[in-house]
Amino acid sequence: VNGTGIPTTLPVIPYQKLTDLQFLSKGGFGTVFKAQHSDWRTTVAIKCLKLDSPVGERERNCLLKEAEVLHKARFNFIIQIFGVCNEPEFFCIITEYLSNGSLDQLLHEKDMYPLLAWPLRLRILYEIALGVNFLHNMTPPLLHHDLKTQNILLDAEFHVKIADFGLSKWRQLSISKSSGSKPPEMGGTVIYMPPEEYEPSKSKRADVKHDMYSYAIIMWEVLSRKIPFEEATNPMQIMFSVLKGNRPDINLETLPFDIPSRDILIDLMTSGWAKNPDDRPSFITLHLSLRTITFQPVNSQIK
Ligand SMILES: Nc1ncnc2c1ncn2[C@@H]1O[C@H](COP(=O)(O)OP(=O)(O)OP(=O)(O)O)[C@@H](O)[C@H]1O
Ligand SMILES: [Mg+2]
Repeated sequence: VNGTGIPTTLPVIPYQKLTDLQFLSKGGFGTVFKAQHSDWRTTVAIKCLKLDSPVGERERNCLLKEAEVLHKARFNFIIQIFGVCNEPEFFCIITEYLSNGSLDQLLHEKDMYPLLAWPLRLRILYEIALGVNFLHNMTPPLLHHDLKTQNILLDAEFHVKIADFGLSKWRQLSISKSSGSKPPEMGGTVIYMPPEEYEPSKSKRADVKHDMYSYAIIMWEVLSRKIPFEEATNPMQIMFSVLKGNRPDINLETLPFDIPSRDILIDLMTSGWAKNPDDRPSFITLHLSLRTITFQPVNSQIK
């Protein structure tokens, strides 16, 4: 790391090399565009801070932290970072562009994807598990803490790339009061958040099992193609219901009979969203179980 806070091995990309900006999405504090790199002749995605107001120091540090994390967490199923653009009026991180959007779109745009073959769905679950398992095996472990279907992106062959490390944190070994802990962000979604996070003061040790709860909700969404807690009218209602022990439905109407290894998957899912974080499996345990389910080639089954 040099004086600017940018890891020295991370390329700095000049703004004028980025052309043909096309808006993709506006999120919490950033905006994502598709762009061309004029020298590399390749499509990239850029996540920028707001373009209208001058870049604040705090936001800049958030995005820099995300760049640094992505740079360290290079792996198959993790989105690849190419560099950062660090100019006074333009600050962004540049990553690979993923042409098939997010898992959220794949699951819920039923006009575009009327059928989703089981082998593809299982492969996606398998790849997310491997990606998160890698993060949890870093030194110190990296906890994603914002796993949701909008943050699981899909490449041209529908392979998984985990994205959005804006809320990720390195696991702290000391049980010191975590200064970075924030109340649940009401702007975002509460459906992937484990109940212990509603009261962040409670148990910081449980942090390692946060991602597993989110994963279990994602698993339900992949198997059902429904929106979790869709009937709820506001986030408070969801939190209240989850605190009482309610979880998404696992009946035959929601999770049909033809799901391969249905019983194994439902067991994994329900242990993953257990109220007590200690009852949730680790990602390595999850992986060992998922591995026993056969994965056939899926390329022929994608339309
Ligand atoms: N590399 C990429 N290729 C294609 N689409 C992308 C890429 N990165 C982001 N997107 C799109 O932009 C959306 C938001 O990206 P991301 O989650 O990184 O930003 P964010 O500012 O944290 O947004 P949010 O607050 O909505 O989570 C993604 O859900 C996806 O639809
Ligand atoms: Mg996001």
